[in-house]
Amino acid sequence: MKVMRFHEFGEPSVLVLDEVPMPAAGKGQVLIKVKAAGVNFADTLQRRNLYPMPQALPVTPGFEVAGIVEQLGEGVKGLEKGSRVLALPTGGGYSEFAVADAAVVFPIPDDVSFEVAAALPGQALTVFYMLDEAQFKSGQTVAVTAAAGGVGAVAAQIAKLKGAAKVFGITGSAAKIAGLKATGYDAGFSADQSDWSDRLLEATGNAGVDIFLDSVGGDMFTDGLKVLNIGGTIVAFGRAAGKTNSLDPQSLMRKNQSVRGFSLYNYMSRPESLRSGLEYLMQACRDGKLTVSVTAHPLSEAVKVHTEMENRRTTGKIVLIP
Ligand SMILES: NC(=O)c1ccc[n+]([C@@H]2O[C@H](COP(=O)([O-])OP(=O)(O)OC[C@H]3O[C@@H](n4cnc5c(N)ncnc54)[C@H](OP(=O)(O)O)[C@@H]3O)[C@@H](O)[C@H]2O)c1
Repeated sequence: MKVMRFHEFGEPSVLVLDEVPMPAAGKGQVLIKVKAAGVNFADTLQRRNLYPMPQALPVTPGFEVAGIVEQLGEGVKGLEKGSRVLALPTGGGYSEFAVADAAVVFPIPDDVSFEVAAALPGQALTVFYMLDEAQFKSGQTVAVTAAAGGVGAVAAQIAKLKGAAKVFGITGSAAKIAGLKATGYDAGFSADQSDWSDRLLEATGNAGVDIFLDSVGGDMFTDGLKVLNIGGTIVAFGRAAGKTNSLDPQSLMRKNQSVRGFSLYNYMSRPESLRSGLEYLMQACRDGKLTVSVTAHPLSEAVKVHTEMENRRTTGKIVLIP
């Protein structure tokens, strides 16, 4: 079978299409014929050896797939060969076949496409649980960084489904603002305009937002704190800018503010907790309440996709088709 993998860390060009033996489903595992593999910004960090977990080379990236059950390992119950599923494997998604623990394999309804199903875990599920952990309440306001990207393209819609009064998007360039209204944002701001945080404050009547979801870090995080309401929470869930922050906790006293981190990875040790979120999101897609914008590329174009993503030229969710 064909896999897209890297034998050394580095630029997108380290990704190569290799022929490898077919894996088998071990005890408690499921072998899936991959129809769509989600691309995540985390895959680019992994490729550059910037991923928090150690990686043994060669690495086949891919933390989310949708496809058809090919083989059930010993002891797997509740799934059938030939059924449509999505899965969150610990890697290996950029492949014709992927193996995942049965606990992280979930059925998908016939009217949810493989492309959309593969797009849900890393992006929609992240937003779904992150808002809960930030103790988001209906009627609150939310701001989202990298708002035109994969997470960003579903974040406003999910926040609105949960009752957000207004959701503001912040992008890296003015060109990306135009598409934000279509994905549920009330207004967009570009971080390359120096007064964006003043204008965001103005849009909230100078109160600031209740929840600031930041996947960029660095200056964006610092500015995010400035546009936070009294009692507001800023959530650090990514580090696209590649910079760290320092924070004086006492600076949070003045407005009763909170900082928290979020990683979907922590849900992997209790996979049953993923089920309700995925079921909610798939139903929202079926009801037309959540639209996931997906661009599909052949698996062989992974180098181009990683290059575009790192150069901030992608919008919405990208999937690879083996
Ligand atoms: N913690 C979690 O559980 C979790 C789960 C999923 C995703 N994430 C994080 O959420 C973010 C979005 O993930 P995604 O897969 O959907 O990717 P994405 O948003 O489609 O692409 C990443 C975006 O980050 C911004 N960016 C990239 N390089 C940057 C740089 N050098 N400086 C500032 N901004 C930069 C760009 O948006 P602009 O050009 O608009 O700034 C780019 O479009 C990533 O940071 C990812 O690591 C975290």
